Amino acid sequence: MSLLNIGVLASGRGSNFQAMIDAVNSGVLSNVTLRVLMTDNPEAPAIDRAKKQGIEHLVMDPKNFSGRDEYFHQIAEEMRRRDIGLIVLAGYMRIVGRPLIQAFPNMIMNIHPALLPSFPGLHGQRDALEYGVKISGCTVHFVDEGMDTGPIIMQAAVEAKHDDTEDSLSARILRYEHMIYPEAIRLFSEGRLEVSGRKVLIRDIPPSGRSGLISPLIGA
Ligand code: GRF
Repeated sequence: MSLLNIGVLASGRGSNFQAMIDAVNSGVLSNVTLRVLMTDNPEAPAIDRAKKQGIEHLVMDPKNFSGRDEYFHQIAEEMRRRDIGLIVLAGYMRIVGRPLIQAFPNMIMNIHPALLPSFPGLHGQRDALEYGVKISGCTVHFVDEGMDTGPIIMQAAVEAKHDDTEDSLSARILRYEHMIYPEAIRLFSEGRLEVSGRKVLIRDIPPSGRSGLISPLIGA
């Protein structure tokens, strides 16, 4: 089977990117190549992670393009040039523009640190805490033109404790982000995700498996 080339878009720390690198190195993700990291931030720590792993990185700073459409058009061109079959957003702090979404329909994933459709946007963990939820979590979804609105692939539910701070809840959620993102990528790479309207069907789930839900709350 030929390897799936993945293009990563990240703006900062890159711990989810690192989880993907680790999953490739440990063989959990066996039929993908992390082909390129593109970042809008020349200072992103994610760049060091790419360098350590020998992954090409490219700084795509919107300042250097004539407008938003041109910026995303050029990202699409760079992805195409590298034969990218899946784009993953790993802490990419921009709403993806139409030229990239149209060039890669249902081929762009994002992870969000809340249980969508609740608490989209930049502060998912803080908004959930302020609302007073008892359960929060994270969501991997395909990217459409909205803010965190695309079809949901996987979710992990984690407890929001009464004494949680934004930081403590974020850290608990992050551990699960690092589990479900590589898992969603694995399912995609095996051709097992089928988008039907808003729904993402996961093919060939073993009889004991759950369809896209991971949670310590239910012993999974
Ligand atoms: C994560 O919390 C992710 O859910 C959100 O941005 C953060 C990125 O963290 N989209 P990292 O850069 O992957 O460490």
